[in-house]
Amino acid sequence: KDKVTTATVKQMKAEGRPITMLTAYDFSMAKLVDDAGIDMILVGDSLGNVMLGYESTLPVTMDEMIHHVKAVCRGTSRAMVVADLPFMSYQVSVKEALRNSGRFLKETTASAVKLEGGQEVFDVIRAVVDAGIPVVGHLGLTPQSVHQMGGYKVQGKDEAAARKLLADAKCVEEAGAFCLVLECVPAPLAKLVTESLQIPTIGIGAGAQCDGQVLVIHDMLGLYPRSSPKFVKKYVNLHEHMTAALKQYIEEVTERSFPGPEHSFGMSEEVLKKLY
Ligand code: KIV
Ligand code: NA
Repeated sequence: KDKVTTATVKQMKAEGRPITMLTAYDFSMAKLVDDAGIDMILVGDSLGNVMLGYESTLPVTMDEMIHHVKAVCRGTSRAMVVADLPFMSYQVSVKEALRNSGRFLKETTASAVKLEGGQEVFDVIRAVVDAGIPVVGHLGLTPQSVHQMGGYKVQGKDEAAARKLLADAKCVEEAGAFCLVLECVPAPLAKLVTESLQIPTIGIGAGAQCDGQVLVIHDMLGLYPRSSPKFVKKYVNLHEHMTAALKQYIEEVTERSFPGPEHSFGMSEEVLKKLY
């Protein structure tokens, strides 16, 4: 199985083959996702929410990201690993953006970075791409701007916002990003953005007309007990299955029915006799 690269992604768009992406944050989950045949694994800063229990993605640090990206890379052999640049790792200056993007590629085996924003991050995207680091853009609902947006809601609904999103998408492409995540954007607008760009779009809550789709793995596996947004499809309710397993374990230990003989080790009667 050949490793997925920027060239593969470009080829898939050219052939009209949908690009599949999921998040993962650790070795076991990455291995599961990679073995299933996913094209791209995003180590999202959503790890702040689902792995670390923060209220938003804002507190996530570069060191926390690197820790998880390393684990994901160890579990991945085919998929392309994309590392999410956390809040304030690329906004302060182009220099800091370069330094932090560089850390991902030097300290892990991720092969691309992702960052949020449009026209305001044009110079950052350009510089990171010029350094030889592939960049994934992210527009629409950009969780690192939650306070600016006034909450997590659908973006680009009125004409001005839609025009801004379209212009930002063209900026991201012109700056050199090789694909673009569209989060919580009306489906018809995501379709228009997709038709207006050469690079593939990857949607999350952005309808079926994007070139690919991404979901947070905890959401699609039903691992996370929070109420999921409308765009999430729960393919399985693992939370329910896991809770049942945990309760059964507690019950069996309590009533001494676990471990059984099949889970236990014996020893010779002779040796045992000497001990008594
Ligand atoms: O952090 C994340 O998981 C993301 C995806 C939702 C696109 O940015
Ligand atoms: Na993110």
